[in-house]
Amino acid sequence: MEIKDRVALVTGGASGIGRAASFELAKRGVKAIAMVDITPDIEIAAEQVNSEVDAKIAIPFQGDVTDEKFREEVFAKMTKEYGMVSICVPAAGITRDSLAVKVDKETKKASIYPIENFKKVVDVNLIAPIYWGMEMIAKIAEDRAQRGQKKWNPDEGVQGTVVFIGSISSQGNKGQVSYASTKAGIEGASATLSKEAIFHGVRCGVIHPGFTDTPMVRAMGEEYIEKHVLPTTQLGRLIRPTEIADAICFMIHNSAVSGGLWADAGWQPSP
Ligand SMILES: NC(=O)c1ccc[n+]([C@@H]2O[C@H](COP(=O)([O-])OP(=O)(O)OC[C@H]3O[C@@H](n4cnc5c(N)ncnc54)[C@H](O)[C@@H]3O)[C@@H](O)[C@H]2O)c1
Repeated sequence: MEIKDRVALVTGGASGIGRAASFELAKRGVKAIAMVDITPDIEIAAEQVNSEVDAKIAIPFQGDVTDEKFREEVFAKMTKEYGMVSICVPAAGITRDSLAVKVDKETKKASIYPIENFKKVVDVNLIAPIYWGMEMIAKIAEDRAQRGQKKWNPDEGVQGTVVFIGSISSQGNKGQVSYASTKAGIEGASATLSKEAIFHGVRCGVIHPGFTDTPMVRAMGEEYIEKHVLPTTQLGRLIRPTEIADAICFMIHNSAVSGGLWADAGWQPSP
């Protein structure tokens, strides 16, 4: 699927992987790209993308990805001003890491992971990306139906692609009971949407990045990274966000790639 001249949408565009994916898509010639993030930094990130390609193609949207009205407004504005969104990379994500069960050394009482944290992580990392992806599929499906098109035919060319962001944590990672659950959940959602959305000519897939050099990972602290992260990767360093962005574009561009892509720098799970 040609990336050039498409209308793209990336959430979590102000930082890390979403920001790098926005730059890469812009460099590969998208006509317009919606950059969505909860922080006001999204304005600066979009300006930087525009100055990189010397064109005003990045449009910043500040808002919460879990807000349905906001999501609908972003799609409506992009469709009206630039045309059908046909690339969606819902990358916004959070962590709320803590052991699932902790025993207090003094009282010997066990506490379990706070349910409000679990629900928050599910809202942002699991439900929101699925709904951003489904919104794009719905817009494409509606447009096709209104033009009298039924089941998609390969001769028409791929109509759109959603690349969800999974994680190596989907395989299980200590301290990440909520995060890992959402990333494993994304696999089931993507596999299901992939079967349904191809009726409308839309592909869906998941990339599972390993530990990538972004603020999310840096927040773990240098010592933790040295001691627990780097020894589990064959590459012996954090992955660059640009490497993940390149892999995302590969998944979009090469329609033979389906299911999941592991971009994990040779990560080996610790016991
Ligand atoms: N960094 C890694 O090692 C790594 C590995 C595997 C998967 N991932 C995934 O990649 C994606 C991007 O992570 P990153 O490492 O670039 O993190 P990051 O913290 O650098 O960027 C995440 C962005 O999402 C935004 N965001 C968070 N909650 C939001 C909300 N409710 N609404 C709108 N925006 C919101 C943040 O403001 C931030 O700009 C996430 O889904 C993450 O789970 C990261």
